[in-house]
Amino acid sequence: GETGNTLPPPANDLETLRKQAETCRLCPLHEPATQTVFGEGPADAPLVFVGEQPGDKEDISGQPFIGPAGQLFDATLQDAGIDRSTVYVTNAVKHFKFQPRGKFRLHQKPNGDEIQTCRWWLGQELKLIDPDLTVALGATAAQSLLGRSVAVTKERGRIVESDEGQRVFITVHPSFLLRIPDERRKADERARFRDDMIAVRELM
Ligand code: URA
Repeated sequence: GETGNTLPPPANDLETLRKQAETCRLCPLHEPATQTVFGEGPADAPLVFVGEQPGDKEDISGQPFIGPAGQLFDATLQDAGIDRSTVYVTNAVKHFKFQPRGKFRLHQKPNGDEIQTCRWWLGQELKLIDPDLTVALGATAAQSLLGRSVAVTKERGRIVESDEGQRVFITVHPSFLLRIPDERRKADERARFRDDMIAVRELM
């Protein structure tokens, strides 16, 4: 796809940043995607959640975490006593990457270049919001936030400081929980994720 617009000047507020991101051509993912899916939530949120990239539903609606993973995320936040309307939710990569397969669009993992390129937007979001805590949902988010590859199973539940001095809490991605075939293990992993969200609330 066509790439190559240069970085815009750093924005002074999130709305300006969001407008800038609408026309991003920094990587090829903008071309097949419907739209940029920017972060959503209060500009002064004390808590930020970062996912991987929008999915099929998010690509169509333009909002992060509203599809199946988003519904599980919402339910877990509620169980843990975190009000989603008070937090800012965004993604490491702002366009849906997919492979067309008949009438379906199959999710594809963003590669290192795509994560690295889109990192600029996430960095600007975090600079403007300046939260007390950022939660990395899964390896892609952790990689983008920390600038290195992260083994989530090893570093889960830890708080790591980013190069920019931000506190990052590492946990799994909710779509991982949707893909577990064994019911018993699925229930266990969902409970662990809920416990991570409770830990996050208690850190606030
Ligand atoms: N998965 C993500 O990582 N982000 C979304 O917005 C939706 C699903």
